[in-house]
Amino acid sequence: MIIGLSEALSYGERHGIAIAAVNTPFFEALTATIAAAERIGVPVILQHAQVHEQVVSIEDIGAAMVALASRSECPFVIHVDHGEDIDYIARGFEAGFNSAMFDGSRLPFEENVARTREVVELAAGRGFGVEGELGVMLGNENGDPDQGIADEALYTDPEQAREFVARTGVGALAASFGTVHGMYHREPHLSYPLITELVDAAGVPLVMHGGSGLSDEEYRRCIEHGVRKINYYTYGAKVAMDAAREVTADPDVLLFPSVAVAATRAVEAEVSSFIRTLADSGK
Ligand code: 13P
Repeated sequence: MIIGLSEALSYGERHGIAIAAVNTPFFEALTATIAAAERIGVPVILQHAQVHEQVVSIEDIGAAMVALASRSECPFVIHVDHGEDIDYIARGFEAGFNSAMFDGSRLPFEENVARTREVVELAAGRGFGVEGELGVMLGNENGDPDQGIADEALYTDPEQAREFVARTGVGALAASFGTVHGMYHREPHLSYPLITELVDAAGVPLVMHGGSGLSDEEYRRCIEHGVRKINYYTYGAKVAMDAAREVTADPDVLLFPSVAVAATRAVEAEVSSFIRTLADSGK
């Protein structure tokens, strides 16, 4: 079934957990994530980032996301991740997405406020939730090698976060406090006191991007400090690749579906473990 962003985040708040938000830009990741969510029995956010348009269009993967989530008994939100312009987010809504993140984090503050506000108004007309972003997180979800180290100078300022939420009306806030997108090249040092300050200042659920590659203890501490949505992609895509390599190394394997099956199994194991860690962090 499909539920709204606010409903999923309220579930997280009630149970003292973070909701897993998994990018599924290939079919194997999508079916694996749905199976993992059904196995664990908690709401999950399925998302498609604009940067993955080069892999599959939001209309094509969106049709599959909406159809598979609708027929499942498990609750899912269908969320546009890192929308960089309002037209892309509108395309997502047309394709059946019911939630969106506008990423204006690299824009000057006033422009980020104005453009995020426009997205909130577009979404409000349809009863959908919006996540905004303030503070810059380095790296992206495309596996680029020159990434992996957070920059404290770009962390989110709590007072700006308060103003941003009040002026935009976002229902969730993505913030920078030590994570990066993609692979980590240095052990992350998350700022837990900053998470507490941001949760207090923002007054809406706090979102962690760059969720791959943290230890279970780091997830638990972030959740304890109030993070309610954790975005996850890179390590799921990485285990799919590792599984594919193993299968293709076998000269007796002739047909591609063996790769797809191995990748699906690998992603399901990886994403199940991630969702379970988040779900088990409840008070
Ligand atoms: P990772 O690349 O660390 O998995 O983060 C994904 C993400 O934040 C998507 O928005």
